[in-house]
Amino acid sequence: MADNELLRAQSLQKYFYANGKKNEPVKAVDNVSLSIAKGETFGLVGESGSGKTTLGRLLLRLIEPQKGRIVYNGTDITRADMRPMRRKMQIIFQNPSASLDPAMRVKDIIAEGLRCGGRRLGKKETEEAAAELLESVGLVADDMYRYPGEFSGGQQQRIGIARARAADPEFIVCDEPVSALDVSYQSQIVNLLVDLKKERQLTYLFISHDLSVVMHISDRVGVMYMGRLVEVGNREDIVLRTAHPYTAALLSNIPIPDPKLSRARVRVPLDVDSVYNENTEGCRYFSRCPKARPECKQTVPELKEISPGHFCACLFSQN
Ligand SMILES: Nc1ncnc2c1ncn2[C@@H]1O[C@H](COP(=O)(O)OP(=O)(O)O)[C@@H](O)[C@H]1O
Ligand SMILES: [Mg+2]
Repeated sequence: MADNELLRAQSLQKYFYANGKKNEPVKAVDNVSLSIAKGETFGLVGESGSGKTTLGRLLLRLIEPQKGRIVYNGTDITRADMRPMRRKMQIIFQNPSASLDPAMRVKDIIAEGLRCGGRRLGKKETEEAAAELLESVGLVADDMYRYPGEFSGGQQQRIGIARARAADPEFIVCDEPVSALDVSYQSQIVNLLVDLKKERQLTYLFISHDLSVVMHISDRVGVMYMGRLVEVGNREDIVLRTAHPYTAALLSNIPIPDPKLSRARVRVPLDVDSVYNENTEGCRYFSRCPKARPECKQTVPELKEISPGHFCACLFSQN
């Protein structure tokens, strides 16, 4: 449990069943527990399809877990009426153009956020608040009269951030907020999120398939593989005391700017077909793991604390 805990998930499960067929379900989130402290940025990393979005949505109860418990600020919200919580718990989506209604003016999009935050404002006050919010995300007041389609992807994501901020949240799930953007916009948006967080003492769950982005922004990091958390630790644990072979594989694929160093290192391939070749009885990383031993095929490795605050789910963790 994190000190000063804001959010805790215990043994969350979400399986998706394909159209009533008897097939094995997709175990999108399988027995995941985590704890996020007030004011921290918890980074969630893993390849596409590993269950990051599903976990983020479960925490906000945008989808319902089949098993497990969610505790927010000391209150069990697993089955609670979420309406009073919506203001406090916001989400910023991966694809800004799809998450903004193209038929709404920016000021009405932001007004939705303000209403979510319980602020019932007249026309003039709404426009004043919208102007301030737009300026806080690096846009200009007059942008409120325009429609989302008139903006670039980076600007649309700024509008999405202004909408989330309008609700005056405490906790924001940032679900791959820069993945759909041009590289040249990515660091601007990440920096904007970092600044907003400092200013408002927010808490983030920051989701990305890109470990270098997660490392840049996060205090602690959780690595997901096929619906399970396989390693959790602070940034130093993850980089300097890497315990899970899958984390090591992710790290070996982070681009290094120096071409000599980059060529010299050993990269563990990530994008191989065996990702679909799931081992259902033991460790799900079995078929790809360079360190696998026969027992890994039979035993599901639990997420265990291997040093204070550093957790790993591997029978043969590397430290
Ligand atoms: N609504 C859904 N119905 C069926 N399968 C889903 C649904 N949402 C997600 N999945 C499946 O669950 C797995 C995890 O998906 P997701 O949480 O989106 O992963 P990520 O965000 O890490 O890419 C994937 O195999 C995906 O196809
Ligand atoms: Mg996703």
